[in-house]
Amino acid sequence: MKEAKKSDIILGIETSCDETAVALVRDGKEILSQIIYSQVKLHKKFGGVVPEIASRSHLEVLPSLLRELQVKTGISINEISAVAVTTGPGLVGSLLVGVNFAKAISYALKKPLLAINHINAHIYANFLERPELVKKGPHIALVVSGGHTLLFFVADSKQYEFLGGTLDDACGEAFDKVALTLGLTYPGGPAIEKVAKSGNPTKIHFPRVLLGAHSLDFSFSGLKTAVIRVWRDKRKKIRRADVASSFQEAVVDTLFQKTLRAVQFKKARSILVSGGVAANERLRQYFKSAARKHGLSFSSPAKLLCLDNAAMVAGIGYYHYRRKKFAPLSIDVKPNLWYGKNQA
Ligand code: KG4
Ligand code: ZN
Repeated sequence: MKEAKKSDIILGIETSCDETAVALVRDGKEILSQIIYSQVKLHKKFGGVVPEIASRSHLEVLPSLLRELQVKTGISINEISAVAVTTGPGLVGSLLVGVNFAKAISYALKKPLLAINHINAHIYANFLERPELVKKGPHIALVVSGGHTLLFFVADSKQYEFLGGTLDDACGEAFDKVALTLGLTYPGGPAIEKVAKSGNPTKIHFPRVLLGAHSLDFSFSGLKTAVIRVWRDKRKKIRRADVASSFQEAVVDTLFQKTLRAVQFKKARSILVSGGVAANERLRQYFKSAARKHGLSFSSPAKLLCLDNAAMVAGIGYYHYRRKKFAPLSIDVKPNLWYGKNQA
């Protein structure tokens, strides 16, 4: 009788910011189960993430999330092949909770520890449960989140070459700051998206900062300031929905123009967009139709996998496991892990 191929289940742990998440993923592609606990309600009244509250909450909920994951799946933690954890970038206190929790599991159960870069995990989210996407490459991957706006050349599902990133505010950060200016609550991205639905995206022409003909970097602080100024000076004459909609359009348009530039430089065939801001419906629509016009393929993970989650961590962790890229128990967190010019 033919022996069944052995499969590997990786436990993923993500605590880099304000989501506590755990997941079990088989062979880097099949999500057996995942749980995401969002701390949004804890931070809302402060208008942004409070690091001390975030780390304390991770510490409180992580053990029960792991128990719940085992009950839900009927898979015991003893059955995993390895434990993958986000080591950075992110908030130092939050990262420490996840990394120490993963170390304890690794030590107690004698399972390999896998150290995962949060940004690489966001890119990998594109391929999770969609391995066929590999054939559409080479890709340009855009990662848009609360802390990052980054472009990569992606040769296959696991090789990422940094091309450019934000020089000031990250794209999600611009959404969050503009939302506060407009009197909307944290997190700003979903709040702006909601208000923008009843607005006119062409009512106000906000700047599209492209930084010269060859740059693959981004700058959103000028756009953010332009919005703040318009709202301060013309508040009585303009509708909030029009400001939100015009701002959102400027962000999405800038992101696409830069991504297209990278596609042309690198002769890529496909565009991938992930990270929290990729949950934005207008961004998804715009990229889909603009990519089609240019004869390119476009794909973005399901919305849940765009936001911070542990399935993407376990998914990419599988490849670390296969290559025996094990982290020592002495590994530290890397809050400022960065790429290219802005390397911390
Ligand atoms: O990837 P993520 O969950 O966490 C980080 O790694 O930063 O991204 C969070 C960011 C926040 O800035 C949030 O406002 C933004 O993603 N975001 C959105 C939407 N949903 C979340 N931005 C625009 N539209 C959305 N629907
Ligand atoms: Zn993230």
